[in-house]
Amino acid sequence: MSTPAPVDRPTTYAIIGAGNNGTALARTFARAAIACSIANSRGPDSLRPLVDELGDTIVAKSLEAALDADIVVLAIPFAAVEDFAQIPYDWSGKIVIDATNAHGVTVEYMAGRLSSDIVADVLSGALVVKAFNYLPAYVLARDPSQNGGHRVMFIAGNHEEANATVVALAERLGFAPILLGRIDEGGRLVHIPGPLVLHNLVEYPLNAEHLWNQMLTRYPMEGPRTLVLAKVMSAAGAIVGAKGNSWTKSAIRCDPRERPS
Ligand SMILES: NC(=O)c1ccc[n+]([C@@H]2O[C@H](COP(=O)([O-])OP(=O)(O)OC[C@H]3O[C@@H](n4cnc5c(N)ncnc54)[C@H](OP(=O)(O)O)[C@@H]3O)[C@@H](O)[C@H]2O)c1
Repeated sequence: MSTPAPVDRPTTYAIIGAGNNGTALARTFARAAIACSIANSRGPDSLRPLVDELGDTIVAKSLEAALDADIVVLAIPFAAVEDFAQIPYDWSGKIVIDATNAHGVTVEYMAGRLSSDIVADVLSGALVVKAFNYLPAYVLARDPSQNGGHRVMFIAGNHEEANATVVALAERLGFAPILLGRIDEGGRLVHIPGPLVLHNLVEYPLNAEHLWNQMLTRYPMEGPRTLVLAKVMSAAGAIVGAKGNSWTKSAIRCDPRERPS
């Protein structure tokens, strides 16, 4: 049974799988200076060159030891998930970020199911959140913060708290997370061959003054009413933006000097 990290210690992370995708993720954690362990099927000694290259934040562990982390990122071939799940472990309440894709299995095996739903079935009790799965590893490995913009990371999951935790992690890693909702809803868009798969999008802050002027053109107002509306919008932006509405969120992210006052 997984329990939340005590308040007096930071959340711990582990990446399971140290191939293309797992290594790309480990680079991203290392760049953001977020401590993380990494494990593969062959044991920590085989990961020595990788962790030596990535520095102190990334630590090689055995699979069993890596599973102690509060949040586990699954970056192994989808076809290996059932084999991986043979490790005796109680997944109840554990946040598992599913970075796998349904390659290497038959249509009969999938039986119309979504890969992350299968992962959730196999790791019974885990709070599965789909993320870090739909970009090529060489793109994922690059710095997600570029020229004032942030690489978008689509996230989907059926558990609100787990989703929020992964959104916060993606933000700390430098991404612009966009929550798509449940796996059987927005998650379909990033389930191969969904329409968002392989789309390397970067979010740049909107110019809030421009938006504000557009709105005033559309709904002309004068004097105190304008000021009141600006304050209401600002407050609503803080609330709605926190819930992930993209334009208010972008307005909030933008240079404070550009916000409506
Ligand atoms: N490659 C990409 O560009 C990319 C992009 C997005 C998503 N993905 C997804 O990410 C996942 C991994 O892809 P990849 O390209 O990184 O694969 P990969 O290069 O073949 O690496 C697979 C990793 O998984 C480990 N592994 C395999 N079976 C395992 C098991 N039973 N228990 C523990 N570890 C196990 C392997 O360990 P050993 O080497 O010790 O066997 C290896 O470190 C796949 O589901 C893929 O669809 C890949």
